[in-house]
Amino acid sequence: MDNDIPVLSDAPVGLEQDELGFGRYVGPLVRVITDAATETPFTIGVYGPWGSGKSSLLRMVDQRLAEDHPGRTIRVHFNPWVHRGEPHLLLPLLHALQDTLEQDGRHRLREAAGRLGHVIAGLTSDTLLRKVSGGAVTLDRIGELSRQYAEQRGKVHSELRNLRRTLQEQADRAAADGARLVIFIDDLDRCQPHEIVDLLESVKLFLDLRHVVVILAVAKNVVDQGIAVKYREFGFDAARVVEIGDEYLDKIVQLPLTLMPIDPGSFLDRLPLPGALAAYRELLAGIVAPNPRRIKRVLNTCAVMSVVGGPPLRADIVIRLVVLRVQSPDLYDAIVARPRLAAALEDMYAGRLPLDRPDRLVERYGQAEAEPMAAAVRRFHRSQDYLGGVFGGTAFTEVKDELPGYLTMLGR
Ligand SMILES: Nc1ncnc2c1ncn2[C@@H]1O[C@H](COP(=O)(O)OP(=O)(O)OP(=O)(O)O)[C@@H](O)[C@H]1O
Ligand SMILES: [Mg+2]
Repeated sequence: MDNDIPVLSDAPVGLEQDELGFGRYVGPLVRVITDAATETPFTIGVYGPWGSGKSSLLRMVDQRLAEDHPGRTIRVHFNPWVHRGEPHLLLPLLHALQDTLEQDGRHRLREAAGRLGHVIAGLTSDTLLRKVSGGAVTLDRIGELSRQYAEQRGKVHSELRNLRRTLQEQADRAAADGARLVIFIDDLDRCQPHEIVDLLESVKLFLDLRHVVVILAVAKNVVDQGIAVKYREFGFDAARVVEIGDEYLDKIVQLPLTLMPIDPGSFLDRLPLPGALAAYRELLAGIVAPNPRRIKRVLNTCAVMSVVGGPPLRADIVIRLVVLRVQSPDLYDAIVARPRLAAALEDMYAGRLPLDRPDRLVERYGQAEAEPMAAAVRRFHRSQDYLGGVFGGTAFTEVKDELPGYLTMLGR
C-alpha cells in the first residue's frame, strides 16, 4: 500500500491554487467589468465542458474584484442548482440580490433591498411567474409567438415593468455611489433543462439593465438540451437545436469566453505527483484527457486503489486501466467482460490482428469468442485519439494472463 499519494480535492480553486494559468483570463475580465468605458448592461458567458474550470474562474474573478476593486462592485452570487425544483428560478435570484444589498455596508442599500423585497412579494404567485417564462427571447425570433402568450403578456406586463423599474433603481443608486452590480451565476448546467432556459430568459428580461454586469458559467451543450426540451413541440432537428442554442446565448451574452482544453503535461507537472506516479509522467501525459477534473480523478483513483508501484501489480497497467475507466467507461466494461480485448486492441494498433481472416480469429479466440471479439475491436479501435497511447505498445499483451486479476482489483 502506497500511503504517500495525496488525494486531490475536486473543489473549485482560487487564485492561490491556480495551476492552469487562468490569470490570463482573470485580468482582462476584471478590466472589462470595472472599466467605465464598458457599456452596460453587459453579460459575460464562461463556457466549457464538465470539469473544465468554470467555477474556479468565476471564483478568481470574484476574488480579484474583492481585492483590487472593493468599492467599485457589488457582487451578487447565485447558484441556481441550490434552488432547482423551485417553480421559477427568478425568485431565488432576486432573493440573492436582495440579501447582498441588505448586507452591503459600504453602499447603504438597505432601503433599496426593502423595496426589492416588496416586488418579490408581489411576484410570488407562481402562476404569474410561469406566464412570464413564455420564451420571449427566442419565440420572437423563430416566428412562433402564440396568441395565448400575447394575452398573458398583457396581464403580466405591469408587474414586469414594476420589477424592471425597481431593479434599475437599485443599479442606478449603486452607480451613483461609484459601483456596478456584478451578478455571478454559476453551475446553471446542473439544473433541469427547462430551468436553465427559464433562468436565461429571466436574465434577459430582468437583468438587462444599466450598471449591471452578469457573468454566467455554463456548458453550452446543456443549454442546447434545455432548448430541445423546452421547444420540443417544434420538433427541431439536432443541428437546428445547436443553432438556436447559439442564437439564444448570442442574444444574452456579449462576451463569450470558452475555456480551452488544457495541456495535461504541464498540469501534471504542477500537481503534487508522488514518486510512484511521477515515474509514469510521460505515459500519463500522453493518455489523460485535457480536462483538470478528469486528470484529478485519474490520479485520485490511482491513489485510492493504493496499488501504484506496489508489487505484484504493474503500475503502468494500473494507470492505463484507471484512465480507461475514467475516460471510456464503455470500453473499460467491455474489457472487464472480455479481458483479452485489451491485448487484441494492442494487436490491432500494431496491425497484427487478422480481422479479415475468420479462421485465424477462431484459432486465436475459439469459435464462440471470435466474432464478438472482432466486433468489439472494430467498435473501439481508434474510437478516441488517446487510445493510441493506451494500446500503442505491448503492456497488456505482456500481462495477458494476469489481467483478470487487475480487473478484479480495480472493480467496475
Ligand atoms: N486553474 C486551476 N488550477 C488548478 N486546478 C483547477 C483549476 N481550474 C479548475 N481546477 C480543478 O478542476 C476541477 C474542476 O474545476 P471546476 O469545478 O472549477 O470546473 P467546472 O467547469 O466549474 O465544473 P462543473 O462542470 O462541474 O461545473 C476541480 O478539481 C478544480 O480544482
Ligand atoms: Mg462548476
